[in-house]
Amino acid sequence: MKIDGKSMRTIWVAEDGRTVEVIDQTRLPFEFGVLQLRSVEDAAVAIERMVVRGAPLIGATAAYGVALAMADDPSTGNLAAACERLIGTRPTAVNLRWAIDRMRMHLGNCSPEERGKAAYARAGEICNEDVEINASIGRNGLGIIRGIAAEKAQGEPVNILTHCNAGWLATVDWGTATSPVYMAHDEGTKVHVWVDETRPRNQGASLTAYELGHHGVPHTVIPDNTGGHLMQHGKVDLVITGTDRTTASGDVCNKIGTYLKALAAKDNGVPFYVALPSPTIDFTLFDGVAEIPIEQRSGDEVAKMTGVSEDGSIQTVNIVSKGSPVANYAFDVTPARLVSGLITEAGICEASQAGIAALFPDRQ
Ligand code: MRU
Repeated sequence: MKIDGKSMRTIWVAEDGRTVEVIDQTRLPFEFGVLQLRSVEDAAVAIERMVVRGAPLIGATAAYGVALAMADDPSTGNLAAACERLIGTRPTAVNLRWAIDRMRMHLGNCSPEERGKAAYARAGEICNEDVEINASIGRNGLGIIRGIAAEKAQGEPVNILTHCNAGWLATVDWGTATSPVYMAHDEGTKVHVWVDETRPRNQGASLTAYELGHHGVPHTVIPDNTGGHLMQHGKVDLVITGTDRTTASGDVCNKIGTYLKALAAKDNGVPFYVALPSPTIDFTLFDGVAEIPIEQRSGDEVAKMTGVSEDGSIQTVNIVSKGSPVANYAFDVTPARLVSGLITEAGICEASQAGIAALFPDRQ
């Protein structure tokens, strides 16, 4: 997608052919900066600190993390150590394991002499594949938006609510939930996006609003608790979110608060779709609430907020009464029964074991 008219991805290899560069998402929307990753440790810390985040981009960064490790020391022992370091960075998004497994399998078949080059090539393929997949998700989801647009009065936009950032910043390009939105906007179908701010880290207010704004998509940022009210008043036509892990039975784990949006959507008859690349499906799990590990992050993310002050300086302030304990569950699980459909690269399916199996018969 574009930043100030320039096409960009979220991750790429620098001109030296070795260093990996990423957009530093901890600095957005206040300033745009690029961070250089020079070692597997740099890549692991970038994932942990959420310099890069979003399930597909976490996977892509881990793949390049393995490549950086192989550039340093292509031994079998170092391959195992790099994979172990990276797999422990964030527990919920399954794309991380998927990407590392792919790298490990591929490099396991190469001699140590071949590994450096092969690792960069494989990581590059994983990134390109992510872009292709997300473009397909966009084409498949576009039909849903067009269908709603056809029912609306002339000139009225399709109002889409989204949670967190499942946009191009969460992927290598296009995004998942935003991909159909960008395609609708680009073809001239009128859309307007309600952007949940997404406490505590505000990925909606900071990142989704930033990227929609830079692409010219009409949008409005709302506090997280507003969606139900908007749905009761007919102001939301459709909800599309992303996911960090989806079970083989269609339960969807996504940023904390997604479940409450799905409940409100069900109560108000608003279609609730989840957009996902197939590497986000965990075919080993069937009960999302019981089985998906939910990351708990530092309480500081809840107790403190960062913003830009009147004088342009970036400041962090405390917002919680001193001494009060805080909890920071990063994700929740929306049961399949609340999901209208899954938008994947292979098509749209029911959120059920049968629906997923029909689209991905060879992955069961
Ligand atoms: O904690 P984050 O910012 O990594 O969480 C990201 C999300 O929950 C996204 O909605 C999800 O990864 C889907 S991204 C295409």
